[in-house]
Amino acid sequence: MLVFIGGTGFTQLPGFKASREIVISTPYSDEPVTLACGKLGDSGQEIGFLPRHGPGHTLPPHRINYRANVFALREVGATAILAVNAVGGIHAEMGPGVIAVPDQIIDYTHGREHTFFDGRVTGIDSPDQFSATVTHVDFTDPYDQGLRQLLIKSASDVQVPVWPQGVYGATQGPRLESPAEIRRMLRDGCDMVGMTGMPEAGLAKELSLPYACIALSVNWGAGLSNELITVEGIRQVLASGMDSIQAVLLRAAGCYTG
Ligand code: HPA
Repeated sequence: MLVFIGGTGFTQLPGFKASREIVISTPYSDEPVTLACGKLGDSGQEIGFLPRHGPGHTLPPHRINYRANVFALREVGATAILAVNAVGGIHAEMGPGVIAVPDQIIDYTHGREHTFFDGRVTGIDSPDQFSATVTHVDFTDPYDQGLRQLLIKSASDVQVPVWPQGVYGATQGPRLESPAEIRRMLRDGCDMVGMTGMPEAGLAKELSLPYACIALSVNWGAGLSNELITVEGIRQVLASGMDSIQAVLLRAAGCYTG
């Protein structure tokens, strides 16, 4: 099953009719994870939808239980994850409204539960079968190349321009960055900045779940324009850009054969 993880501005999926909810217990959370499943548009197959900030968009990026979410998706047999992320633009071509399919990540987050392989056995009857082994997953391709190509091809099919690459810099938040931090990220090679790309992508890799991201730039990174970053400004870009993202995802769901 193909699963979408929705982010800011993407808490619902128009054209998606949830026909059932799967409630999934995980060893990483007291609360179960609830996945909505159903058909998207005319695409015949069932897809899943998980709003990563919780049902009412109540969880800030550093409080999202990424491990519980990714573990739950594996438990229900997800075969691919397409994540939607709002970002700030850093590269000159990543201004507000631009959509990108990043190919690399730099992780600046800290203090998040970021691995299934943390080397601790948490209890004798722990259902956590990963933690006791020292494992270093390969992260050469943080995003699945096949899924990236699916997104890029789907965008082209529905005539939505996308930037078919880019380095996603994941910051801790929830505050925005200082201009000096954005300048450092530019020097590091980041093209966009967001707060939710990690550890989600790394955790999916640890569970061998194919994962790709479609990112919508909703503002310039701090200090890169004369305008202040405001919620209202972001809301306006989200409102227009999400239609394009939805068109791409609808097409991708129709073409997904995995
Ligand atoms: N910084 C970090 N995360 C973001 C931004 C930003 O400027 N815009 C949207 N998500």
